[in-house]
Amino acid sequence: MSITSAQKKNKLPADSHLRRWVDGAVVYQVYPRSFQDSNGDGVGDIPGIISRLDYLKDLGVNAVWLSPFYPSPMADFGYDIADYRDVDPQFGTLDDFKKLLHEAHARSIHVMVDLVPNHTSDEHEWFAQSRSSRDNPKSDWYIWKNAKSTLPDGTPQPPNNWLDVLTGASAWQWDETRRQFYLHSFHAKQPDLNWQNPAVRAAICDVMRFWLDLGVDGFRVDAVYWMAKNPDFTDDPPVHPVYAKGPATNYHTLRHDNSMGWPEVYAYLSEMADVLKEPAYRTADGETDRFMVTEAYPEGKSSLDAYMAFYQGVDPAVAAPFNFDGLVLPWQARTWRISLASFHAAMATCGPRAMACYAFGNHDQHRLASRWPEVAARGIAVMQCTLPGMTFVYYGEEIGMHNVTIPADRVQDPATTGGATGGGGRDPERTPMQWSDELNAGFSTAGRTWLPLADDYRTNNVAAQTKNPHSFLTLYKKLIQLRHDCDVLRYGDFAVLPMVTPHVLGYVRSFEGKRRVTLINFSPEPVVPELDLELRTCLVSSDPRSKLTESFVSSTSVELLPYEAAFFEAA
Ligand code: NOJ
Repeated sequence: MSITSAQKKNKLPADSHLRRWVDGAVVYQVYPRSFQDSNGDGVGDIPGIISRLDYLKDLGVNAVWLSPFYPSPMADFGYDIADYRDVDPQFGTLDDFKKLLHEAHARSIHVMVDLVPNHTSDEHEWFAQSRSSRDNPKSDWYIWKNAKSTLPDGTPQPPNNWLDVLTGASAWQWDETRRQFYLHSFHAKQPDLNWQNPAVRAAICDVMRFWLDLGVDGFRVDAVYWMAKNPDFTDDPPVHPVYAKGPATNYHTLRHDNSMGWPEVYAYLSEMADVLKEPAYRTADGETDRFMVTEAYPEGKSSLDAYMAFYQGVDPAVAAPFNFDGLVLPWQARTWRISLASFHAAMATCGPRAMACYAFGNHDQHRLASRWPEVAARGIAVMQCTLPGMTFVYYGEEIGMHNVTIPADRVQDPATTGGATGGGGRDPERTPMQWSDELNAGFSTAGRTWLPLADDYRTNNVAAQTKNPHSFLTLYKKLIQLRHDCDVLRYGDFAVLPMVTPHVLGYVRSFEGKRRVTLINFSPEPVVPELDLELRTCLVSSDPRSKLTESFVSSTSVELLPYEAAFFEAA
């Protein structure tokens, strides 16, 4: 059973019928291969995660999101699922998962699992049936098309020019049995399901029920834009050279107008959202409290329009899109001021339950502390913990883990230089968690771990940072604790402060007459912003050298150190 109804009754004020565990939740993303290995094979697993739950409890997170742990040939490290209702033996057993759920709930940690609806593995039984003939019952569960033409040497040509996200090669794979192509928007071992087929939609809804019945609290839903493509399968147009940004990988030579992002996606997701609202998954007092967060990078659209289409198209009581501005925007006060002000103004029109879901890192993006100077990354921690809504912390970000350079003979990620992620793949941000200065950073006793450890693990690890009052980890713990203690942060309104100082972003959170302010200096120089409200005590600063936390402030102006972010009580 989910813990949420009990919690709701015991812990939240009686008048708070609109409040749910998701409000203000800090969600910690665990990449199971890299978190903790319990059996010495060099790959993390579910018993390993269970052994680290006390750490997560101490960190203070409200929920974990587990990247896929399902049976998989691991062509895309679990995002190629061969069975939606089990656990891969590398990660443990279904009983291990049930134990994880129980132990997490016993510590008031909610559990979200990854749901991958766009594609399965080519080793899924559904695909085996679908490819077996053109007239089997699952024949059109996947997207099969005849060759557009055949070259004189007999080579069949794909039906259109769509490209595979991971490699930038054709998204079509010829199959000798059916003598047809199947579509794979990602790896050739990840055939796309045919979401136009109601039987497919019903099957995925059943998968959701399977995990909800076990007691999971929600889903992170993978790659949702690809569920809906142009039904005419028209070619994607080329990117006009004037608008091509950066070194063009093959994938980026096209605008993906037809191969993804068609409006039916909202109807499909609404069918999934309806599952979360079924009576079986409501609390004892009839409230919905299971939730799904959808992964869709705005790609070529205005991010505001892209995000709002989800809030308007899928019931925001049970679903929200990730806000990926923390991954795509430049680190510039002006840009953030505009983006936050417009996003929250638009959200306010989507009803009281519409939830922002901020992510500043994940398993597909370079590490925060490698994208920005470390002082700025500490400022981002303050920002992400003081913004409204859910916030997602990728494992290791709380100790400022860096990207790791992967030697050519240790590369694992199937994404190649031709794909959307460009050179280097995603291994650098997926290396083992750094727990201590012991063998393999305490992650594993194996002779060789699946990806190499960071060189700095002997000095940069959880054990060392726990002892250091100025560490990244101590800062995160303080911030997460603040979020727990402070209704203003969990439930408060949000407004961006007008600012005359160009390099400072400021915003105010307010709730039941209380106000809190965050100020962030985006520049490498100290600044003294002037405000039209009075700041009081500084509750936390990102910079251990800051003097702001040492004394009671009562001023409309404070000095911020380079890149410093600070959080204040305000009059
Ligand atoms: C998005 C996931 O985050 C990524 O890791 C994966 O490769 C693709 N979707 C395909 O499932």
